[in-house]
Amino acid sequence: MNTIIKKYLKNNLKSILLERENIYKGNLLLVNRQNPLQDVQLGRNALMVPSDDRFPDILLRKPVSNMLKQLLKACSAGDSIVPVSGYRSLMEQQQIFMDSIKEKGEEFTLKYVALPNHSEHQTGLAIDMAQNLKVIDFICPDFPYEGICQTFRDKASKYGFIERYQKGKEQITGISHEPWHFRYVGYPHSEIMKNNDFTLEEYTEYLKYFTYDDKHLKFENQEQSIEIFYVEASETATEILVDEYEPYQISGNNMDGFVVTIWRDIL
Ligand code: DAL
Ligand code: ZN
Repeated sequence: MNTIIKKYLKNNLKSILLERENIYKGNLLLVNRQNPLQDVQLGRNALMVPSDDRFPDILLRKPVSNMLKQLLKACSAGDSIVPVSGYRSLMEQQQIFMDSIKEKGEEFTLKYVALPNHSEHQTGLAIDMAQNLKVIDFICPDFPYEGICQTFRDKASKYGFIERYQKGKEQITGISHEPWHFRYVGYPHSEIMKNNDFTLEEYTEYLKYFTYDDKHLKFENQEQSIEIFYVEASETATEILVDEYEPYQISGNNMDGFVVTIWRDIL
């Protein structure tokens, strides 16, 4: 579109209603011990597809699977790294939890397996990756900080993924260090989190400083100028106005509100 026309049309605002029930949907859901999955239908409603054509049973949400494929391609990973566990139903998470208690005990299980309905794997936004060794541990696969695994980790944020359970952040996440567990949050959130060394718990709180009516969080790279802000959910629905011609994305935080991300034009 011609930039002069675009500028003219910029004054067109469109109203969006943020309905309370949607705080449980989106890429930025915070799912942890304090914040269970509320919408138990979530996984079943979203379209899940194989994360990798070699492993048809390991599923992710479709856009997440697409980004993982692009990330693996960018790493020229070939067969050297493989997915181990993606989307899990409530029943699968229950089974994994109970099996782990039996085989490894309670202490280990609470460190490495989320309680049923408290697992990111139930959202279809999380994937465990492994170095392709002869023996791959299902709960704690090897994914070292070197070689191809580190290349994957270094590039992950460009494709919307974060290493979710980092060393030193155990008190915040409630889960032990898991070098293999990656969570899709979407770009540029992944990049901002990486640059600031934020867990999803910390980022969710940080975003509350940037509200609709006040200062927005700004993120710029060479091609894009992006604004992010938080909107607290009201009892029923909250209206916001966005520019009709600028792409935006909305995600609930699974707690109390929404994160709005707007891609501004660089004119
Ligand atoms: N291993 C992670 C914490 C899960 O079970 O969701
Ligand atoms: Zn995992």
